[in-house]
Amino acid sequence: MCGIIGRVGDGDALEPLLTGLENLEYRGYDSAGVAVQNGAGIKVQKRSGEVSELKRTIDGDPPEGEVGIGHTRWSTHGPPTDANAHPHTDSTADVAVVHNGIIENYATLRERLREADHEFTSDTDTEVIPHLIQQYLDEGYGSEGAFRRAIDELEGSYAVAVMLSGDHSLYAARQGSPLVVGMQDEEFFLASDVPAFLEYTDDVVFLEDGDVAVVRPDGVEFTDVEGNPVDRERQTVDWDPEQAGKAGYDHFMLKEIHEQPTALAQAIEGRTDPDAGAIDLDGFESGTFEDVERVQLVACGTSYHAALYGSLLLNAAGVHATAHLANEYSVAAPPTDGGSLVIAVSQSGETADTLGALRRAEREGARTLTVTNVVGSTAARVADDALFIRAGPEIGVAATKTFSSQAVMLALLARRIVADRRGDPGTDLGAFLAELERMPDRIDDLLETSHAAGIADRYLDSDSYFFIGRGLGFPVALEGALKFKEITYEHAEGFAAGELKHGPLALVTPETPVFAVFTGEEDERTLKNAEEAQARGAPLVAVCPEDHPATEIADAHLGIPDTDSDLAGLFANVQLQLVAYHAADLLDRPIDKPRNLAKSVTVE
Ligand code: F6R
Repeated sequence: MCGIIGRVGDGDALEPLLTGLENLEYRGYDSAGVAVQNGAGIKVQKRSGEVSELKRTIDGDPPEGEVGIGHTRWSTHGPPTDANAHPHTDSTADVAVVHNGIIENYATLRERLREADHEFTSDTDTEVIPHLIQQYLDEGYGSEGAFRRAIDELEGSYAVAVMLSGDHSLYAARQGSPLVVGMQDEEFFLASDVPAFLEYTDDVVFLEDGDVAVVRPDGVEFTDVEGNPVDRERQTVDWDPEQAGKAGYDHFMLKEIHEQPTALAQAIEGRTDPDAGAIDLDGFESGTFEDVERVQLVACGTSYHAALYGSLLLNAAGVHATAHLANEYSVAAPPTDGGSLVIAVSQSGETADTLGALRRAEREGARTLTVTNVVGSTAARVADDALFIRAGPEIGVAATKTFSSQAVMLALLARRIVADRRGDPGTDLGAFLAELERMPDRIDDLLETSHAAGIADRYLDSDSYFFIGRGLGFPVALEGALKFKEITYEHAEGFAAGELKHGPLALVTPETPVFAVFTGEEDERTLKNAEEAQARGAPLVAVCPEDHPATEIADAHLGIPDTDSDLAGLFANVQLQLVAYHAADLLDRPIDKPRNLAKSVTVE
């Protein structure tokens, strides 16, 4: 939801800024721009389109200087035009600003500034910020004072980076949108996310809400908006820049699909002991969940599908659990109290809807826990506790490896909650953990032998794509359809297998392939539902083990291993990711950056 980059140090700022913008494009790619300080004033270059377009524009006339800011945009206020691209400046072009988030009181501020003869050239909420700073500079405040006064007036959610003409520092503030500082020797970075500058440094400080950072050529100062020092931990992130690149794959999404064996191995490493039948979740003492009476999982999109998966596992084990779309939870939450454990599931840990649900749960007195990929993310800090899925950076907008890692993490957590409540781990835990430990190698085999590309080709010109499943196969069907629609732009829907006959069957024709997921739970019934669609002419693609009865009637087959039914759906999901990927590739879609979407949705 917009990516911010800033850089202070010796030498050329442009290259690290453009590298940062390319690394941040997953956050938005409607328009991009940079502002660089060259001693003779600030030079801004910006335009609609992707960073590659900006680079082409800049090529003829690169701005020179040691300090700069940059932005890649996902539009909220105003269409993706050149004028609405960031950075924005005041009328004198002495103040340049990049911003991620929403300034809720921008209309009031703009009116006030207009009355004071400030002229606006864009439709954005952001543009009030440079004008506000300029107003305070005109009133005699120094750079830092003017910045702090302006920030103090903003309402809403923002991460802001500001550069002033003739000043070699950058000024940044965070309220509700992520911002991280990167440090190496005498070069400093500001960014919305760590991969922006990972080629340069892995030494970082995450800002918290209300923080201001002044990034000077000789160091960074962290304060609140009034200037009182705040203590922020400096930490080293263990993501390697290679991981954040494409490593020879055509798309990040394909690379990330193939990273699932590693991601899963990392997710479970040190957390499982099949021999002792024990689950060790970083720092959670044995018995820590013994008082949990009910679990509510809140999440959006793909993470919601993982949350639904987790809720089904908990219910099957006798723990009352419900999964909620985070954006609905704020208006229609079930009763929540001290006996409730509310689990926010979020790859980024920055999704505004999920943070809203988490904060609501805290207000209601629930115990909260975040399952996320990003250490230092807002969700990790807002919740009482955090469990990290350790999937490594995910750049493709379509979530793949993080879904698998979230589901596995929730499967471990579910077993652990059950064990704590019961006071013993149960007899089947060792066998389940052993099966879980086999999973990375088995996904490797599946990736090598998958026929998904052929199936994507065979059904490429269909009218619509249906995905069905029962029990744990249902969230997998939902996820299969979401992945398919978001990157192919073709119509796809996921259904509970038993629901087809209650309406959707009316849409089934020979041009509606049905992908049926078989997890080993009541497969005969799912097969019957699949046959009902097949009888109306739908081609049936069975996602199931080799010797499964469904293969006898299916028109096509995608294989999964014979495994614990709690895990089978996750193998099926990998096959469906591949089908979506290959279909989108054949259709020549921009797979890593599907239209209208962004990786991290920090607006409600
Ligand atoms: C779909 C996708 C989105 C995200 C959703 C939540 O492929 O990636 O549906 O799952 O926007 O994002 P996080 O997990 O960051 O909270």
